[in-house]
Amino acid sequence: MTKGTFPVESFKGLETPFYYYDVNLLKETLSIVKEITHKYGYIQHYAVKANANHRILQIIATAGFGADCVSGNEVKAAINAGFPASKIVFAGVGKTDKEINLALDYNIFCFNVESLPELEVINELAEKKGKTASVAIRINPNVDAHTHEYITTGLNENKFGFSMSSLPKVFAKIKTLKNIELLGIHFHIGSQITEVDTFDPLCERVNELQTQCENEGIILKHINVGGGLGIDYDNPNENPISDFKNYFDLFNSKLELRKGQTLHFELGRAMVAQCGSLVSRVTYVKEGESKKFIILDAGMTDLIRPALYQAYHKIENISSNLPIQQYDVVGPICESSDCFAKDYELNETKRGDFVALRSAGAYGEIMASQYNCRELPKAYLSDSL
Ligand code: LLP
Repeated sequence: MTKGTFPVESFKGLETPFYYYDVNLLKETLSIVKEITHKYGYIQHYAVKANANHRILQIIATAGFGADCVSGNEVKAAINAGFPASKIVFAGVGKTDKEINLALDYNIFCFNVESLPELEVINELAEKKGKTASVAIRINPNVDAHTHEYITTGLNENKFGFSMSSLPKVFAKIKTLKNIELLGIHFHIGSQITEVDTFDPLCERVNELQTQCENEGIILKHINVGGGLGIDYDNPNENPISDFKNYFDLFNSKLELRKGQTLHFELGRAMVAQCGSLVSRVTYVKEGESKKFIILDAGMTDLIRPALYQAYHKIENISSNLPIQQYDVVGPICESSDCFAKDYELNETKRGDFVALRSAGAYGEIMASQYNCRELPKAYLSDSL
């Protein structure tokens, strides 16, 4: 059984649970994404929702990426970490007036707009400020992402974006709005997509739409295909970096860009998931009737993905090399769903051992809550331990 390498000695003085981020892996991942996107002239806006830890944001901003935000506070977090406003896109079905005003004040690159009333409000607020808001129309391409239903976003039944059939009306409306400039179109079909071919129909939809727009005399400066590339939760040690080459190559070969158009991406998970682990101490090993339970000091409040999406995170006992035994690994929260794994094989475990829940760099720390009046987990980066 392969295990990750952790500075267990340095962990000993720390209170658990905490998120631990491997900065070398993060930087290596970023440099691979940078190299390929640079080669094709693509622009990557990191999806801040995956992890908004200030230091992580700083590292990503310093590497030269833009940011994809879904709230006013995410816009602020991105700006505070050093992302230039000129590389920030802002999506979301429910942007409030306050959030739109904030984004207008920062002069962000583009609003990804999801409804007609939102377009009208952005126009009105931009007019009051004597500004023109740049927008991309989020289109729901009705493409099945073949992923968990909670993280599928591109189907007609989902709340996101405009349907393909409503577009003529939308484009006609935009022509009447004086403080709106249409820059492009935006898509996002879902998350944790591991079969790259799943993006094929998305490319086809974009190509169809481009022809339709040209026929109507609409010029698009950019196409934004969102994020969604998945990671290998089963084998974080063997596959720490997603197959970015295959992913970007697919868009390069399938999506027909027009001259002068730029292609934008909003990857979140694939950029940060594998560099993060949730590190916990074993509070008790409990002998049940038919099972042994490992009770961690980390629970669903620190990492909610298993409880919410039945997601799998590899678990490693990083303190023990004793023979393998079977355990249910659970947290301390008063909910039966506070369970990380059932009948799981781990090195024989004792009270006080460190356990790492792997691949938790995305949608981990940021989704933590204080349920049961718990403290939010802390976070440490490998370069500052
Ligand atoms: N762009 C848009 C418009 C999105 O809605 C999302 C994610 C992304 C980009 C980034 O997608 P990624 O590359 O990370 O797949 N909490 C869930 C994931 C929710 C994703 C929501 N939207 C989880 O833990 O799996």
